[in-house]
Amino acid sequence: MDLDRVEALSADLERIAEDRPAMLLMRALAGLFKARVPHYHWVGIYLLEGGELHLGPYAGAPSPHVRIPLGQGICGAAASAARSIIVPDVAADERYLACSLATRSEIVVPILDGAEVLGEIDIDSDQPNAFNEHDQALLERAASLIAGAIRRAPHPPRWEEPEAISA
Ligand code: SME
Repeated sequence: MDLDRVEALSADLERIAEDRPAMLLMRALAGLFKARVPHYHWVGIYLLEGGELHLGPYAGAPSPHVRIPLGQGICGAAASAARSIIVPDVAADERYLACSLATRSEIVVPILDGAEVLGEIDIDSDQPNAFNEHDQALLERAASLIAGAIRRAPHPPRWEEPEAISA
């Protein structure tokens, strides 16, 4: 992602996050990223519950991976390591769980409360090598805003089932 787009999105991100409850914020961000970044072809947010990642809001085609155990996939790897992972070529990564045959690259950014993993933002692109350090920094800021909203929530947010967001 180039810096002009990062700057434009950063301002919107902060404005959207202000005072928005956690579940509404996650829905809004899934829609924002899908609508505003052409190389983000699938955007989803998972929350960690009982050792499994549960898909909540997503924009793009429905995914077969609505529950992902910590030991599986790029998603499970990022949650286990509590670190962002960029996969420039999903075909070359044995951990990859396919969602769409068109996907060529992926970024997964954990939502962290200190060292604790609360969930993650997962984005797929149909372009190879679509994600750079600017995507990572922007998504880590988004994850931090989501973590803040989760900390402020009166009850821990949960997703009973995935929610398609139109963007
Ligand atoms: N590709 C992910 C699975 C989720 S789908 O992309 C929506 C993974 O390898 O964990």
